[in-house]
Parts: sequence; structure tokens; C-alpha cells
Amino acid sequence: MAEVTFDYANLMEVEDGLTERDLEGVGARLQEAAGELLESSYGFMRLPKTGEHAAACKELAQEIRNSGATDFVHAGIGGSALGPMAVQRALNHPYFNLIPAQTRSGPRVHFAENTDPNSLGAILDVVDPSNTWVNVVTKSGTTAETMANFLVIRSALGESGYGDRTVFTTDPEEGYLNRISAREDIRTLSIPKDVGGRFSVLSPVGLLPAAVGGLDVDALLRGAAQCVDEVEEQGAEHPAVVGAAMHYLMDTARGRNVRVMMAYADALERVAAWFVQLWAESLGKDGKGSTPHGAVGTTDQHSQVQLYMEGPRDKVIEIVEVEERPRDLPIPEAYEDLEGVGYLGGHTMGELLNVECDATRRALAEAGRPNCTIKLVAINEENLGYLFQALEVQTTRAGSLYGVNAFDQPGVEAGKQITYKRMGRPGY
Ligand code: PA5
Repeated sequence: MAEVTFDYANLMEVEDGLTERDLEGVGARLQEAAGELLESSYGFMRLPKTGEHAAACKELAQEIRNSGATDFVHAGIGGSALGPMAVQRALNHPYFNLIPAQTRSGPRVHFAENTDPNSLGAILDVVDPSNTWVNVVTKSGTTAETMANFLVIRSALGESGYGDRTVFTTDPEEGYLNRISAREDIRTLSIPKDVGGRFSVLSPVGLLPAAVGGLDVDALLRGAAQCVDEVEEQGAEHPAVVGAAMHYLMDTARGRNVRVMMAYADALERVAAWFVQLWAESLGKDGKGSTPHGAVGTTDQHSQVQLYMEGPRDKVIEIVEVEERPRDLPIPEAYEDLEGVGYLGGHTMGELLNVECDATRRALAEAGRPNCTIKLVAINEENLGYLFQALEVQTTRAGSLYGVNAFDQPGVEAGKQITYKRMGRPGY
């Protein structure tokens, strides 16, 4: 059972915070937005309950793990990379790839995302080409960055070995990967047609790498399905849906047009990066949308919190709190005669992190800085699945309130066209 809660009290109780009247003002539109979600057949709402393609992902992951593969390279960008990276970072050992092979759960997992040759070159420096699988992930099957990564990796793996150890994760029909697959008999996993990149973490895009990394994909889907059930039951009352109104109002009625997601767990840093894309690419249209930003506590208390506390009154800080840490370390007692050091002994590192999280929340509230909290009882598959689903629900419902289409991204096309032309793609 997923245990994820949302607390918006500090968006209302602070100076110049939202009022019941503000919320009533958008109540009818929020009801309509929730109703539209429930009546629609959005792919991202269907995925968790149908678990479509999960069996194929688990089976292929098992084959990869049993094949004695040393390395698994996931090539993709944007929505084809951020979710999978967030899952690995949240749920696997932070130094997973450094764990000795005999005790590691599966091959090393690498993400070839950007076209920075330094990053791809570094991956190729460490993988064993004769024992490496590559998963090329692109819904459109045309993305220049992913295709370039693919071509370099393909050549590095050598033509003979590459085909047997290659997977294409792509649209079921469209795009060049399907054409290459037909020509070279490459295995493919399908990304459902009605699931766009940034909503695809619970499709084969996220499920295959998670399963290769030894994670429980059924539990991820279970947590997300619980969220879908709760949204179906509660409609506009569901906290994720309520959050759409809160964040929309904070931007449009209070001028708080920066939404900072500050996760108090290093493991969730990439979840914030995933969310930044989700919110930015879904809502930044027609001159609308608030700017998402990712931060990590406590690290960014020593970097950005000064700005959050005393800078422009343009931000909402969303703290992601974790109650139980996957592990904790006691702080040994020492230097008891030094008051600035000795007090730490006898506590734990996790306790310090949680106390600092609460301290930041209180300090922000006392300074009249609006903040809210998403609390995960623990970082596990079910809670992460729930969180992904809830934030997808929230983002699309915010899209309805802003009056924008949360599922397209016309603004990224112009740059692509220029790139194609400059790189000599025929027809551009
Ligand atoms: O959310 C989106 O749709 C985008 O971020 C895409 O995921 C990204 O552009 C990559 O597209 P593709 O999977 O087609 O390579």
C-alpha cells in the first residue's frame, strides 16, 4: 500500500496566502477538469491498471540479466530518459554500477542521454562491448540525439554482436526504428500510441530499465494504480487535483510563478528533474505556465534557501519529505566538551536530515514564504509509482486550468528544424 500525502496548509496560512475564496473561484473549473480526466481515456491513466507490456519487460529483463550481460545502455532523451533515470536513482544503490558484479543485482545501467561526446565516450570507455546490451528509446523514432547515440553505440558494439543485444523501445508503428527493426530483425518494445514521452515512465520506457536493475515493476504499477483508484473515487477532492488548483492560483493570482521542488533525499534528486520536465513542457505554452525548479535539501539550504527566504516573493517551495530512510547512520558521540560539535552525538544522520527539513518548512512559513509538502513514508516502488501518477494527474489538471494542451510541445520544433537543416537531413 502506497503511503504518500500532500499538505497545502502553508500555502493558505502564510501572509498573502491563498484563501477559501480563491479556491471557490476555481472550484467549478476544477470540478470540470477532474470530470474530464475521469471521462477521458488518457493513456497515462490506463497504464498502471492494465500493466500493459509489463510482462514483456520483465521477461526481456530476465533474459538480459541471465545472459551474463555486464552492461545495459539506455539511449534516450527527455521523456525517454528522465523517468527511467529517476527510478534508478531513487530505488537502486547510488553507486550501483560500482558494486562488484557478484553482488550487484543485474548488469551496470548507463544512460546515454545528451549528445555530449564526453559523456557517451565515458560510457564506451567502461562497458565491455562484447557483453553490453543497448536499449534505444525514442517514441518518435526520429530524435536526432538518440539516433546519434544509437549510431555511435552500434558501431562500438560491433555489427555482429549488436543485433542480438539490442532492443528498440518505440511507437508500435511509426518512426525509423521500426524500419531498422524490420531490416535487421531487432526486438522491439512498444510505447503505447496514446502515451507521450514525459508521461511514459510506467510504460516500457521506464519498466524495462527498472526490471533490468532488479527493481519491482509490479509494485511501481501497484502504487500508481492506487493513485488512479483514489482519483477516480475522490475526483476534484483528491489532493493531487487540489494541488493543481493551488499551484495554478499561486501563479496566476499571487504572482508566485516559480515552483521549486525541494527533495529532502539525494535519491529523489532525479525525481525532481523528471517533474521539472513534466511541468515545464506540459504547461509552458501561450505565454502561460510557472517555472519549475529542482533542489535538494539539505544541500541547497547552503545554496538557494537564502533566496527562497528573502529574495523576490515569486516562489512556492514544495518540500518532498521522507519519513523513514532506506538506511540510517548513527552519529557517534565525540568532543562532548565542544558545544558546537558534541550535541550531534547520539542522534542519527536521518534524524538530522528530517529535523532540517522541518526547520526549513517552519522558517519559510514564519517568513511568510508559501510552501507545501509531499510526504513519502518511505522511498520504495509503490510510493514512487504513486508519486509519478499523482504528479502526472496534477500537471494535466493544471493544464486544464491554464487552458493549454498539456500533451504537446510545439515550442521545441523550431530548434529541431534548424538542427536538421544544419546537419544536412534531406528535406530540411
Ligand atoms: O515529453 C516529450 O514528449 C519529450 O520530452 C520527448 O520525450 C523527447 O523529445 C524525446 O522524444 P522521443 O522519445 O520521440 O525521442
